[in-house]
Amino acid sequence: MTDRRAHWDTVYAEKAEDAVSWFEADARDRVALIARHVPDRAAALLDVGSGRTRLIPALVAAGYRDVTALDISAEAVARAKVGTGVGPVAWVVADIAERTPDRAYALWHDRAVLHFLTEAADRDGYRRALLAGTEPGSVAILSAFAPDGPTMCSGLPVRRYGQAEFEAFLWPGFTTRESFPALHRTPGGAEQRFHVHVAWRLP
Ligand SMILES: C[S@@+](CC[C@H](N)C(=O)[O-])C[C@H]1O[C@@H](n2cnc3c(N)ncnc32)[C@H](O)[C@@H]1O
Repeated sequence: MTDRRAHWDTVYAEKAEDAVSWFEADARDRVALIARHVPDRAAALLDVGSGRTRLIPALVAAGYRDVTALDISAEAVARAKVGTGVGPVAWVVADIAERTPDRAYALWHDRAVLHFLTEAADRDGYRRALLAGTEPGSVAILSAFAPDGPTMCSGLPVRRYGQAEFEAFLWPGFTTRESFPALHRTPGGAEQRFHVHVAWRLP
């Protein structure tokens, strides 16, 4: 969808890496969570809506050799590539509500992307992509604003998720591994309540 793409291209063209509310300087906790569920460094990992996250270089530094970073914004991907340098990363510019991946990943990781999909048709598109991009045994780690979290992100309305909402979204076909609240402090000092949901795709 063109409007969505234009919004994110403008954000990444105009704002510094650490000037966006979702910026996280340290990805170590996230790498530890991923490594707990997908320890195999040869496993195929997909980060949906990567933006300029430091998670990508951190995963490469942790030894993961098959990492794909996908984002709707070509501006974000261009900047992220420079920040990451040369490494085993595949970069994809795509709208995940409209493009199904052409391979299955052992890990589907999403921090603050699904929550922007407020229209049922977009959530259906995301679910189709999730099913095409995973296989039985794959792990999905989804993070979104919690039910008591903000109602807007980057100036856009969001749909909020707790364990029940994630389980409804993933039903049927996934079973919960762990599901917990998380607090994010923005560069401006505000606290944002997130919920992190880890699920395993059933055979
Ligand atoms: C709040 S930011 C989070 C970025 C990154 N996951 C992080 O934790 O730093 C949301 C990201 O999702 C991307 N995005 C938004 N809608 C998308 C869509 N439909 N398909 C793919 N990427 C999308 C945006 O360009 C942006 O980089």
